[in-house]
Amino acid sequence: NRPSRLVIASHRLPIVLFMEDGELKVIHGAGGLVTALKPVLTLRGGKWIGCPGTVPGARAEEVDRILAETRQESPFELIPVHLTEEQHRLYYEGASNSVIWPLFHDFLSLCDFDGRYFKAYEEVNRLFASTLASHTDEKDLIWVHDYQLMEVALHLKDMRLHRRCAFFLHIPFPSPDIYLKLPWRDRIIRALLEFHFIGFHTVREVRNFVQCVKIFEKDALVRRRGNWGTITLGSRMVSVGALPIGIDFRHFDRLSRHPAVRARAAEIKNNHRGRKIIFGVDRLDYTKGIPERLTAFELMLERHPEMLKNVTFLQLLVPSRETVREYAELRDRVERRISSINGRFSQDDWVPVIFMSRSMPQEELVAHYLAADVGLVTPRKDGMNLVSKEYCAAHSDLSGTLVLSEFAGAACQLQRGAILVNPNDREGVAEAIYQALVMPEGDKRRRMKILRHAVRRHDVFWWADSFLLAASGKHIKDFPTA
Ligand code: UDP
Ligand code: G6P
Repeated sequence: NRPSRLVIASHRLPIVLFMEDGELKVIHGAGGLVTALKPVLTLRGGKWIGCPGTVPGARAEEVDRILAETRQESPFELIPVHLTEEQHRLYYEGASNSVIWPLFHDFLSLCDFDGRYFKAYEEVNRLFASTLASHTDEKDLIWVHDYQLMEVALHLKDMRLHRRCAFFLHIPFPSPDIYLKLPWRDRIIRALLEFHFIGFHTVREVRNFVQCVKIFEKDALVRRRGNWGTITLGSRMVSVGALPIGIDFRHFDRLSRHPAVRARAAEIKNNHRGRKIIFGVDRLDYTKGIPERLTAFELMLERHPEMLKNVTFLQLLVPSRETVREYAELRDRVERRISSINGRFSQDDWVPVIFMSRSMPQEELVAHYLAADVGLVTPRKDGMNLVSKEYCAAHSDLSGTLVLSEFAGAACQLQRGAILVNPNDREGVAEAIYQALVMPEGDKRRRMKILRHAVRRHDVFWWADSFLLAASGKHIKDFPTA
């Protein structure tokens, strides 16, 4: 007679495994989904089901053992789903990251519509469903995350398992003219409609999804008002809603006030001899607009020569999906752009662009946010973009200016305090960077207050509570999103 538990399923568990001196070790994972969900599950307890990642030379039993050991220190349980190398290649690199990811981000030309991918996608989604089946009962709420797992509820239904099952999409949902290009379009829409509740970041996504449903489910009765909607299919009703994900604001705010982090931020500023610092943080992904951002920075230097030697652009690039061809090509392109800018402008002891290819511990990341005069976030398309919110939460001193792409989901909430840009408009981004660099102190503080208020008010706990309320059919007050 135990109470209901929260069971999360996402492609990736919030950990990274690696071998050191022949011994399997585990560290915390990175990425927006993990950063957001971890504090939620830490607070509530429950289970997290996902792939632990592959480590050459490690056996599945060893991985299971090390995950079971983490249970002692963790408020939630990690349950691994093991994929074969072929499943990883066809479902993860193929269906998920060479079809759905590029298509949903509006990069049609990067899609590789190989029929084998979808079979593997079905197979792995079924594997997740059967793992969920053996680790849950009717009382639990299953919360499935993201584009890799859109078919899980369909497979649970095929297994005749009655579970409350809700879904959140962390990436954009495209408009019908783009979605229609997907060869598996009908099946994915129908699979999504097997969830009881589907959450998206913004109203634009809800609108796009509902329009696609109307195309494929002619008999569906669709209602949409504000952030919410319902789709009635015979006797069944599916609810949809726009719920922008947030961050653990208090955690980032607290870190940014910590004396060691402040001292490190001062040290970073000092290392750059008091020059203005522009900071960018991204997984090395073509959706993040990194080459375009570099070109805009170069144009800013060209147009405002007084900035030469007075500003440094620090770009942290977290390696990502390196076995997918487009990602390896992007790395070369970014490195060539950086060398070209540095070759053209470097003087004496000044190098305009410094690029770090690694991931940073959170304290170090926050010290960099705090040291940066400008947070430069210019994705060509992004579901939400948590980096933009973290930049604001880390500016407890109210310094710093955020330059943000209007194509990031976060722009809906941060438009009043950030300088919004169209990442395809080089001149516009160059001028926005300049404007951010020379902004008077009073304006910066005023904008940063607005930004911090927005990020604090709708934090990750608000998001999770609202999602879970909506998933259990309760009414949620409307809130502003565009
Ligand atoms: N991040 C991290 N380690 C790093 C750099 C970034 O854990 O070295 C985190 C960052 O704090 C943020 C997430 O990665 O929470 C990136 O999320 P975002 O939504 O901006 O983009 P995504 O990678 O999910 O597309
Ligand atoms: C984005 C996606 C997540 C994904 C993460 C890292 O945040 O929305 O689903 O886990 O990127 O990507 P990776 O391919 O390394 O899991």
